[in-house]
Amino acid sequence: MSKESLSITDNRTGKSYEIDIKDGAIRAMDIRQIAIDEDDFGLLSYDPSLGNTATVTSSVSFIDGDKGILEYRGYPIEQLAEKGTFLETAYLLVHGELPNKDQLENWETDITHRTMVLENVKKFMEGFRYDAHPMGMLVSTVGALSTFYPEAKNVQDESVRLEQTIRAIGKVGTIAAWAYRHTLGYPYIYPDNDLSYSGNLLNMLFRMVEDKYIPNPVIERAMDVLFILHADHEQNASANTMRAIGSSLADPYSALAGAIGSLYGPLHGGANEAVIRMLEEIESVDNIPKFIENVKSGADGVRLMGFGHRVYKNYDPRARLVKEMADKVFEVTGRNPLLDIALELERIALEDEYFIERKLYPNVDFYSGLIYQAMGFPVEIFPVLFAIPRTVGWMAQWSEAFGDREQRIVRPRQLYVGERQRDYVSMKDRS
Ligand code: CMC
Repeated sequence: MSKESLSITDNRTGKSYEIDIKDGAIRAMDIRQIAIDEDDFGLLSYDPSLGNTATVTSSVSFIDGDKGILEYRGYPIEQLAEKGTFLETAYLLVHGELPNKDQLENWETDITHRTMVLENVKKFMEGFRYDAHPMGMLVSTVGALSTFYPEAKNVQDESVRLEQTIRAIGKVGTIAAWAYRHTLGYPYIYPDNDLSYSGNLLNMLFRMVEDKYIPNPVIERAMDVLFILHADHEQNASANTMRAIGSSLADPYSALAGAIGSLYGPLHGGANEAVIRMLEEIESVDNIPKFIENVKSGADGVRLMGFGHRVYKNYDPRARLVKEMADKVFEVTGRNPLLDIALELERIALEDEYFIERKLYPNVDFYSGLIYQAMGFPVEIFPVLFAIPRTVGWMAQWSEAFGDREQRIVRPRQLYVGERQRDYVSMKDRS
């Protein structure tokens, strides 16, 4: 008998089965053969929120949650954050290898030349109300790109997929910046091709009346590093949404809109916004013990935002890098006064049995909002700043799925627990 297998005895029938194990997993379809009789559909696995189910094979990013490791295409996130640039990292995620000098130059040119958006897109955005949340604007406008680039629906064509990937990475920053300017009532700023990806983004976000926007190099580098850290994170809710929509062969902009929508929630990319709101509500270091007690009692469903992760059961490596970077940014912007509350919250939580037992550590969102706030961003824009770099990971994963012949339209099963075969009751007979 092969050792890479699982022996299962069905106690309902006394029958035994041998199921292969490959890469540390069994195939869910292999348990379908386990049935009581011929009429039985066969055994299903029940996994609400996919906590223990791999739905894809992927070689884009890797997380070891127990050890606190994150790698993109095998490269540790720490090395990319220290030595790489965001667009170089984007190339790595999309193409699988680090670019050589020519490849990087061409890639940067290609993306830079896709940062402009059509004037109709601008008009579309101008239609939003003055108080529209920028994330809602981003979801809608990115989705609307599918109407501007109808060829994008030829998703089986690899060259079309690459073109949309370059286009999406180029344009998402412009749309995001314009969503921000819209909330301020300021004119939208067109891209400046002389600047780096992050420098140009700062230009489109912050330029006022100056002839030429010159980004502060520390802030520009900090944005670039934050973008590297946020570029991909394997099968999270939004990547799963991207893949699920993509699996019906919808165009990538429709899938991206879904992924951004999934990121929007406070349990995912909206957590950086929620962290700042939480710190502001705590107000002072003296109120922390009471807040922690509230969290532990589960009162009103209060959670320590920016803590905990489905996969990391150790310090999120991105959180460590963001925390280190905060000091450099604060030297330029001035110290965010909420930092003291955050540091004390972290210290208390890491020593508290409740958090230790559940292996709850700071995640990437715990400190990133403090940096963005110090840079002058309002909290509503934080999830948008997360969506810009994550577009790279979503597009890389979306495209990867087309090379996997086992991928079909995503169609989970359910365990139906409702009523069956009832006769229609006329209105007069209903209680
Ligand atoms: N504060 C207090 N308790 C928590 C927290 C938290 N932040 N996170 C988890 N727990 C508790 C939870 O109540 C549960 O306790 P018990 O076993 O007594 O019921 C236990 O820890 C397990 O929690 P879970 O909800 O089953 O864990 P999950 O894997 O479903 O949730 C999470 C992961 C990220 C949604 C959750 O930790 C959370 O809500 N964190 C706060 C929101 C946040 O920071 N999200 C950003 C995640 S990182 C960025 C990204 O990739 O999106």
